[in-house]
Amino acid sequence: MIKKRMIFLAFSLFIPTMTFQSCGNQFVLRQPAESEIILQPKSCDAEIFEIFISGFHPFLKTNCGTCHYDGGRGVGRFADRNISIAWEDFRSMSAEAISRNAINDEHRPPQTGKQHRPVITDLLTRWTKAMQTKQECEIALQLSKNPMNAPFITTEKEFKENELPTSEVRLTWNLAQDLKNEKQIGLIPANLSINFGVTVRNDKIQLNIRQPTIQLQSADALKTKNLWIHINGKKVPEITRYLTETDVIGTQEVSLFNQNNSSVIYELPYQSAFVNQSLKISLEIERIEQLPITYEMLVGTNTTFNVFARRCVSCHGNTRQDGGLNLLNQDRAQLLAQTILFRMRSRNRPMPPAGLLPDSEIYLVQRWVNGLKSK
Ligand code: HEC
Ligand code: HEC
Repeated sequence: MIKKRMIFLAFSLFIPTMTFQSCGNQFVLRQPAESEIILQPKSCDAEIFEIFISGFHPFLKTNCGTCHYDGGRGVGRFADRNISIAWEDFRSMSAEAISRNAINDEHRPPQTGKQHRPVITDLLTRWTKAMQTKQECEIALQLSKNPMNAPFITTEKEFKENELPTSEVRLTWNLAQDLKNEKQIGLIPANLSINFGVTVRNDKIQLNIRQPTIQLQSADALKTKNLWIHINGKKVPEITRYLTETDVIGTQEVSLFNQNNSSVIYELPYQSAFVNQSLKISLEIERIEQLPITYEMLVGTNTTFNVFARRCVSCHGNTRQDGGLNLLNQDRAQLLAQTILFRMRSRNRPMPPAGLLPDSEIYLVQRWVNGLKSK
């Protein structure tokens, strides 16, 4: 027994020595026995790729490798020794379909069958979880392409006939939640409000709209341009008076109407108001531009912006550096910017570990990362 181990040890020491010595002065990387590295998975595929390399691929090579290789009899080359070939077919046939056959007594027993169930169940569980992370990552990537560049931000409220307010009410839309473009949700921490009242007279319905305002939920700085109001999907020409450009700074409520308090009265025939048994009011803001977020703001003292200082530095600062990360080191933080954002959005492995922060705080970090990229 001891002898065998000694031989193995001697053997494993011998190989690398030989590879380096045989090429003289020049350092030449040894050809990998089977494509070990070669493949660069797409950025969001890192975790699923890892499960393939360390779990699925070894299993498939052992149990399915006699048929499922390039040129083999099996349909699908997912057990090929060349990892890029195997990966390509594994992805296109899906982990689920391949797993089904792996535990299928009818497929190619004894290489396939129920005996593989524990291994396959474990791999599939990990795979499914990693696929979630991949999706989160892809959403984050989408967002990082800056959906604020979308020309409009639209939000709407719908009223059934019997829900129309008879006296004037204040309607508020939470732009962090109520946007129609899902990709923009969470990006604009602000409330948009109007006063709204309805009078029904005979066959006419009179809408009274006043005091459009915007109020940031946390101190920030935005510039908004042109508020449009739509009734049942149609832009209301009478309300073009709301076309303005407005600076919104801090958390105070800012009027989006240059002649404060004057109202816009809009009449429409009773029928047309309820074509679809309801009345829809949509507010549409043309472009909101934002102040850039800098590293100094994230680690600074202003509690509106200092997400790193308030939320992370207790574990990632000068005294303690969990995971080897010190966020007070600007170069390190910038280098890891994508990872930081990714972990702050990850439902599986959130940072901070106690759970995801509010969208508005994650978004501040997103804006910092956006700024780094555009440099
Ligand atoms: C002895 C050869 C052989 C072995 C071993 C083998 N297969 Fe197959 N496999 C085939 C052949 C041949 C086909 C083509 C269609 C068929 O006969 O089912 C196939 C087809 C498949 C398909 C495609 C089925 C479809 O309907 O598209 C999957 C998935 C699959 N095998 C999975 C596996 C897995 C997983 C293993 C190992 C755990 C495995 N096979 C082992 C020969 C084999
Ligand atoms: C309670 C302590 C704690 C807090 C608070 C915390 N982290 Fe972590 N963080 C850890 C630990 C422990 C690890 C290492 C284990 C891991 O990766 O999950 C880690 C790892 C990380 C990593 C991975 C580092 C790498 O090189 O892969 C990142 C990025 C990260 N944290 C970012 C953050 C950010 C950003 C915040 C604040 C929004 C934060 N963390 C808050 C404890 C914390």
